[in-house]
Amino acid sequence: TYVVTDNCIKCKYTDCVEVCPVDCFYEGENFLVINPDECIDCGVCEPECPAEAILPDTEPGLEKWIEINAEYSEKWPNITEKKDPMPDADKFDGQENKLEKYFS
Ligand code: SF4
Ligand code: F3S
Repeated sequence: TYVVTDNCIKCKYTDCVEVCPVDCFYEGENFLVINPDECIDCGVCEPECPAEAILPDTEPGLEKWIEINAEYSEKWPNITEKKDPMPDADKFDGQENKLEKYFS
C-alpha cells in the first residue's frame, strides 16, 4: 500500500485524489490519508503529488505514517474530487516537522 507523509500537511494539493482509481483518500483539516485496506498499490498517485508526500509503505522509516494512515482513514471522510490547495500551500511545501506543528 501507499502512504501519505509529512509534507502533505498544510499543503493538500489533492492531485492524488484525482488519479486514484479506487477513491481511497480520506480528508482531515490539514492532511489526507490513504486507507490501506482499499489501496490497490497501483502507484499512480505517487508521481502526481507536487509535495512528494506519497510513498510506498516498503520505504524504510515509515512506521509512524503507516499507523497514521490506517487510523485516520477510519475516522475522516472520503474525498473523491480535487479541490484548491490550502492557503499558503507553497509556503508550507518543504517545511520540516509539520506533524508536530500542524497535524489535524
Ligand atoms: Fe490510490 Fe493507487 Fe495511490 Fe493506492 S497507490 S492510493 S490505489 S492511486
Ligand atoms: Fe497531499 Fe500531495 Fe495529495 S500534498 S493532498 S498527498 S497531492
